[in-house]
Amino acid sequence: MSTPDDDFLVVEDLHAGYGGARVLHGVSLTVGRGEVCAILGPNGAGKTTLLRALCGMVKGRGAVRLGGTGLLGRPPDAVARLGVAHVPEGRGTFLPLTVEENLRLGAFTRRDRAAVQADLERVHGYFPVLRKRLKQQAGSLSGGEQQMLALGRALMLRPRLLLLDEPSLGLAPMVTRELFGIVRSINEEERTTVVVVEQNAHLALGIARQAHVLETGRIVLSGPAERIRADEQVARSYLGYRV
Ligand SMILES: Nc1ncnc2c1ncn2[C@@H]1O[C@H](COP(=O)(O)OP(=O)(O)OP(=O)(O)O)[C@@H](O)[C@H]1O
Ligand SMILES: [Mg+2]
Repeated sequence: MSTPDDDFLVVEDLHAGYGGARVLHGVSLTVGRGEVCAILGPNGAGKTTLLRALCGMVKGRGAVRLGGTGLLGRPPDAVARLGVAHVPEGRGTFLPLTVEENLRLGAFTRRDRAAVQADLERVHGYFPVLRKRLKQQAGSLSGGEQQMLALGRALMLRPRLLLLDEPSLGLAPMVTRELFGIVRSINEEERTTVVVVEQNAHLALGIARQAHVLETGRIVLSGPAERIRADEQVARSYLGYRV
């Protein structure tokens, strides 16, 4: 028997694309409350499009429900108000604005000023480096710091669901490991549900409970992360590395 907690995020037969270009052809998956789910797959598979459909940036057909509430057909700001924070590919920070301005923008759905201030402190706890750079333009940060800012900004929404698109892109292995460690802490300490798209399958499988492999807009493999990680054949065929 599944419980509401098992079915926190439900995606059913999701079709999505861009104008005439159809990219997702019937994707279905569920993510339990407080779980980390990894989406793996080759370039062009539709991973980014899937996250965009979940946060309302591209239109979709089928069903997407978060805690029982339908998300499809709502504009991105309405989806954000329902507690979905999206850290897009390429990070989506506002480079001419300061670090502090970027972080405060992350709380745009909220009116509780004292709590927002407390959340700034909470974000600084995860990312001490940002506190030192509050008045600095985001564009002057290193790549790793910018990714931390993007994640910090998403946390300012107090999300129930965090969507991360290739957080490791362009970062040194040490910075990437640090970042994944922070994602794991956020998940453990705040019970935030996370869907992470990642080319670095090894890292993503290290923090995920379930994983799905997407290929040309269809899920071709799903299972517990440790099983997918342990399966040499799977690793060779889909993940592009030898275990
Ligand atoms: N804005 C767009 N307009 C038209 N087609 C697009 C657009 N964005 C993506 N596509 C197409 O949709 C398909 C899936 O792209 P998507 O970015 O979702 O893949 P991905 O799995 O995230 O790939 P990558 O690993 O390279 O980031 C590709 O064929 C891509 O060319
Ligand atoms: Mg992508």
